[in-house]
Formats: sequence, structure tokens, C-alpha cells
Amino acid sequence: MATKPRSEAGPRHVAIIMDGNGRWAQSRGRPRLFGHHAGARRVREIVAACPDLGVEYLTIFAFSTENWKRTQTEVAGLMSLFRRYIIKEMQEFVREDVRVRFIGDRYRLEPGLRKLMEEAEQMTAHCTRLNLTIAINYGGRDEVARAMRRLARDVAEGRLDPETVDEQTLPRYLDTRVLPDPDLVIRTSGEARISNFLLWQSAYAEYEFIDTLWPDFTRDIFARVLAQYGARDRRFGAVSA
Ligand code: IPE
Ligand code: IPE
Ligand code: MG
Repeated sequence: MATKPRSEAGPRHVAIIMDGNGRWAQSRGRPRLFGHHAGARRVREIVAACPDLGVEYLTIFAFSTENWKRTQTEVAGLMSLFRRYIIKEMQEFVREDVRVRFIGDRYRLEPGLRKLMEEAEQMTAHCTRLNLTIAINYGGRDEVARAMRRLARDVAEGRLDPETVDEQTLPRYLDTRVLPDPDLVIRTSGEARISNFLLWQSAYAEYEFIDTLWPDFTRDIFARVLAQYGARDRRFGAVSA
């Protein structure tokens, strides 16, 4: 089977596990939320950089299904940060032609935040310059479980023949159903794990684990990581041409 020999072009879909906000704040003797606020400012910078760098899809991990285990203060602070971030950025997204989507189980989020998420999705539905997907209360296993629930319901109600279920079926039930698979997954802060992010979708993604803490992740570092990707040989199980 013919396969793309070497990707000279940059990645089309980049997914980022934005990690290290807490450590960044702690190293400055500040509360963890201080780091989350600094991290949100970096999100703005990285989103703005994407179109020039050839990135069409950016998917960022903002809050995992496991992050509820944190203190009530941190969780509430993060939820309030998400609300403020969406309110503040909504007009900017429209101006910059950025289409926003959210993945994750939004039904566990408070109604006010959920409403803002829906508004942002509707207001930017016509935008095409960048597809920004924000993962809030997202977990790869939870996403697959929710997808299986819907799939099972379709089988039970006669809309889906179980004999036809194959590798193309499940993606249609995932939160990411309209997105291509990520080409490159970046994790900041030096941890080499994926912490339940895009499990199904990243089966053939390239990974970059970099030591920089998320609030220090600049546009220049981002550009460098993307350039390195261009030198990788993605074989998808085949042999290089
Ligand atoms: C990532 O930074 C942001 C979220 C998980 C919300 P962390 O808060 O995990 O920062 P560290 O890993 O503790 O430094
Ligand atoms: C992953 O970071 C989740 C987000 C970046 C939102 P964590 O800090 O929660 O992951 P672990 O606990 O180090 O695996
Ligand atoms: Mg962390």
C-alpha cells in the first residue's frame, strides 16, 4: 500500500497536553491558580500562532475526568477561569475566524459554563481559519465508554447492524467525530505519559514530550517542535519508500 514517505509538511492537527501550571506557580511561591492563569495567556499566544504555522486543527487538554480529584478550591478556580476565558475570547475567535468546539462530558459541568460553551460553538460555527477544540472534563476512556453506550443503543433500537461494526464505526460515535486524527501530540512539563488523552485517535500520532512547563511554552518553542515533526518518518506500519 502506498504511504506518505516523509512528512516534509508540518502537522495538520496538533494536540497539546498543557501540563506544568502548578509547578510553575509553586516555583514562584504562588498558588496553583496563578499558574493556571499564566497558562491561559499562553493558550491565547499558541492559538494565534497556529494559522501562520500551517496548523489547521489545534486540540488542547484543559481539564481531565481525573482532575476532579484536586482540591475544591483548585477545581472551582479552574471552572471560573474557563468561564472567564470563553467570555473574554469569544469575540476574538470570531474576529480571528477560529471555530471553537468542546470535547468531553459537558453534562457534569455547571449549567452556566455549559451554556457559554454552546454559545461559543454556535457563534463560531461559520469560522474556518483554525479549528480549536478544547477538552474539558475529557477522558479518553470515558469518551469511548460514552460512545459505546450510544452505539449499543443504536444496535438495540435496530439502527445499527452489529455485524457491520468495524474500525470506521467507533470514531463516528466519539466526541471528535468531525475531527481528523491528531498528527502530533505535545506534552509539556517533562512527564512522558498521555494521561487518558485522545486514546483512540492518537494510535498513530507522533509524540513530543518536552521539559518546558506550559506557562513558559512560547510561540518560538511551538514553532521549533513543529519543525522537528517535519523530519519524522511516519510509516503507519509500512516500510519507508
Ligand atoms: C496542567 O497543569 C493543567 C491542568 C491539569 C488543569 P497542572 O495543574 O497539572 O500542573 P502540574 O502538573 O501540577 O505542575
Ligand atoms: C493532564 O495533566 C490533564 C491536563 C493537562 C488537563 P495532569 O497533570 O492531570 O496529569 P497527571 O496527573 O500528571 O497524569
Ligand atoms: Mg499536571
